[in-house]
Amino acid sequence: MTERAEIFEVGPRDGLQNEAAVATADKIALVDMLSDAGLRRIEVTSFVSPKWVPQMADAAEVMAGIRRVPGAVYSALTPNLRGLEAAEAAGVGAVAVFGAASESFSQKNINCSIEESFERFQPVVAAAGVPVRGYISCVTDCPYEGEIAPEAVARVAARLLAMGCAEISLGDTLGRGVPERVDAMLEAVLEEVPAARLAGHFHDTGGRALENIRVSLARGLRVFDAAVGGLGGCPYAPGAAGNVASEAVLELLEAEGFETGVDGARLSEAGAFAKGLRR
Ligand code: HMG
Ligand code: MG
Repeated sequence: MTERAEIFEVGPRDGLQNEAAVATADKIALVDMLSDAGLRRIEVTSFVSPKWVPQMADAAEVMAGIRRVPGAVYSALTPNLRGLEAAEAAGVGAVAVFGAASESFSQKNINCSIEESFERFQPVVAAAGVPVRGYISCVTDCPYEGEIAPEAVARVAARLLAMGCAEISLGDTLGRGVPERVDAMLEAVLEEVPAARLAGHFHDTGGRALENIRVSLARGLRVFDAAVGGLGGCPYAPGAAGNVASEAVLELLEAEGFETGVDGARLSEAGAFAKGLRR
């Protein structure tokens, strides 16, 4: 039997959070195209402060407008209880809290220390009626602190797992990770969290994302976050490029013999549409 691997589509969220003035109707159309391409986990939006990320201010409208394909899970970022309540009212199938392995990035992105972030996430995870994903940003490099020690990532991963996160996504936020350091980071994290509960989240600034995915596959990871059309970046990671393109990840996974359930032709159409939304 062919082994499965999954593309976790983050384009509508991680991609479009960096694009000013995308119409709500276009966001909805993109999510629907992604559903039609066979993606079964799609991160649609973020229930965050509109002062911090105005691009996601229409989160509830986007959730209300999408066509829900049976079996597909539509999720959103929820940094606090307020976000969780709004996301659940909007009918999300999963949510995500987002922390960091770097103190400076935690401060810039969510305005608190790593330790304080656990205190904020704990009630979110406890109250959530849907699975919670835990993101860790800056797993190899931080835009403010430089290289991050693998042990720092492992410590945060262990806390998120103990808190009840169903899956932990390891974010190379800056896209500067190289295979050797990604491998060392994974070795440390795997001491704390089994591969089946991990996802790889690679931005592609340095052009090494696909190699980093290969390293992760060799370490047993089978879930990879990607953005259709290679959209994205992070408003609090200056200089970071988009996520690795879902189309490129699909090609890699298929070449490696994995079954994904994604239709390449339809994914390409969604990619062309997504690229047209860039300013
Ligand atoms: P804060 O200022 O410390 O919190 O922000 P606060 O509780 O004082 O709230 C500030 C204002 O936001 C208040 O409004 C709140 O009501 C409001 P005011 O009284 O000033 O009018 N507010 C909210 N509004 C709507 N929904 C909410 C919400 N919460 C508070 N849920 C906070 C803390 C976490 C809210 C803020 O820092 C924030 O929203 N940050 C979001 C940052 C973000 O979205 N970054 C991008 C996503 S992370 C990422 O891209 C990395 C990732 O892809 C992985 C990787 O690549 O590494 C996941
Ligand atoms: Mg990201």
